[in-house]
Amino acid sequence: MSRIPLLAANWKMHKTVAEARAFAAGFLPQVAGLAGVEIVLAPPATALQALGEALAGSAVALSAQNVNAEASGAFTGEVAAAMLADVGCRYAIVGHSERRTLYGERDTDVAAKARALLATGLRPIVCLGETLEEREADRTLSVCEAQLDGSLAGLEAGHAEDLVVAYEPVWAIGTGRTATPETAQEVHGFIRRFLGQRFGSAGDSIRVLYGGSMKPDNAADLLAQPDIDGGLVGGASLEPESFAMVCRSAAKA
Ligand code: PGA
Repeated sequence: MSRIPLLAANWKMHKTVAEARAFAAGFLPQVAGLAGVEIVLAPPATALQALGEALAGSAVALSAQNVNAEASGAFTGEVAAAMLADVGCRYAIVGHSERRTLYGERDTDVAAKARALLATGLRPIVCLGETLEEREADRTLSVCEAQLDGSLAGLEAGHAEDLVVAYEPVWAIGTGRTATPETAQEVHGFIRRFLGQRFGSAGDSIRVLYGGSMKPDNAADLLAQPDIDGGLVGGASLEPESFAMVCRSAAKA
C-alpha cells in the first residue's frame, strides 16, 4: 500500500512566538504546491496558537510535543488533548526519548496519552528506539518490540489510520550520527511486520517515520527505503530552508 510520506518538525524547546511566525512566513512559500508529502510543525506549547493561525489556509498541520492523558483536573503544568485540539492541533508527539529519559515516561504513560489523543480526534506520533548500549548488546529489535507492545497497548485496528510511529534510535538524536539507510530499514521492516501482526491489514496505513539527525543531505537516501514513510526532524527543522529541503526530498522519494 502506498503511504503519503509525513515530515514532522520537532522544535523541542526552541522558538518564541515571534520566531515561530517568522519561520512560517519563510517556510510556507517554499513548500506551497508541494504534492505527495504531508508536513507537520511541532512548536513549543506557547507558540501553538500563533503558529496555528499562521498556518491557517495552508496544507501544513500543527502538532504538540506532549499531552496529558487526563481530560481535565488538578494537574499543574499539564495540557489536555481537548486543549490542543482547541488551538488547532491535528497531531501530538508522545513518548519522545527525551521525555522517556528526562521525565520518566513509561510505555504505559505513552499508551494512555495515545489513547487520549485518539479519543479526541488527534493523531499521536508514538516514538520509540533503542539506546547505544542496547544496540551494542544486540538488543535493538527486542527493545523496540517491547516499546511497541507497551506504547500501543489498548489501541485497535480502527485507530490505525490516525496512528503514526516514529523510530528514533537514541544514539542518533541530536548527535549528527545518523543510522545508515540499511540499518534504519532493518528496524523499520521489523516495525512494519509488528504493526501487521497487531492490527492486521489496517496496520498498512500506519506511517513509520525515521528520526535522528535527518537532514537535507541524508533525507533522500533514508526516505528511499521501502519501510521509511517520513521523518521526525529536530535540528534540521529549525531553519525554513533546511526543513523545506528535507520536505522536497520526501516529495521526490
Ligand atoms: P534530531 O532530533 O533531528 O535533532 O536528531 C530528532 C528528534 O529528536 O525528534
